[in-house]
Amino acid sequence: MSRRKMIYEGKAKILYEGPEPGTIVQYFKDDATAFNNQKKATLEGKGVLNNRISEHVMLGLGRIGIPTHFLKRLNMREQLVRQVEIIPLEVVCRNVAAGSISTRLGVPEGEQLPRSIVEFYYKKDELGDPMISEEHITAFNWATHQEIDDMMAMTLRVNDFLCGLFTGAGIRLVDFKLEFGRHYEGDMVRTVLADEISPDSCRLWDLETNEKMDKDRFRRDMGNVTEAYAEVARRLGIMKESGQGAANGDVGKGDAAK
Ligand code: TMP
Repeated sequence: MSRRKMIYEGKAKILYEGPEPGTIVQYFKDDATAFNNQKKATLEGKGVLNNRISEHVMLGLGRIGIPTHFLKRLNMREQLVRQVEIIPLEVVCRNVAAGSISTRLGVPEGEQLPRSIVEFYYKKDELGDPMISEEHITAFNWATHQEIDDMMAMTLRVNDFLCGLFTGAGIRLVDFKLEFGRHYEGDMVRTVLADEISPDSCRLWDLETNEKMDKDRFRRDMGNVTEAYAEVARRLGIMKESGQGAANGDVGKGDAAK
């Protein structure tokens, strides 16, 4: 790691210069933050699990033709991704009411929404990532109309794919957050899915018991955070046993760190 140039350190990940031009190494930390960095902890093994879960999801999305930044997983904590210019938006898609839509609009947590709802937030920690409309996005040039259309269409396709993937694993996809980037190829620019898709960025409830299997366990001090993430990985067929070996990277399928 020390031989590489660090490009950016975020709350849960570090980006390093990749081995080839146009590539980046995305390193998954064990750090967890909530409420815009006010609450912090280190959750041993979380980075390993998110790396594996995000790889699994991004590969699946790639197979149905969603362009993503993902190239390949390098080891237990790192993946190689395409270098993109991150669009400064967080795109949230909701199927069931929870979190901020419940507090802001009074929709009871757990209520099925009449249809999937896509929301945009301005990615700006200093402002606490405020919710914005398409008017703000285009007026301030954060993204073009075409990019908004692309992100909206991709988000709904990602939602359909993830709903199926998680339902098959006995998990309800309540909501999730996506980030997109601009990938420049010569004169062309393409909107691609970036960042990660993991229990840090989704709300995942057990289909039968509604037990939370995501970062809300950390936000709400419910305990057993990494155990829940490991159970998500196990149900997706990524890990051999629930909760076993998450921290030391024993994640099965015979493909340990290279
Ligand atoms: P919210 O209900 O707090 O607005 O969160 C909606 C979804 O977005 C939920 O799945 C958690 C995810 N999320 C992030 O990934 N990062 C964030 O900073 C926030 C606030 C939410």
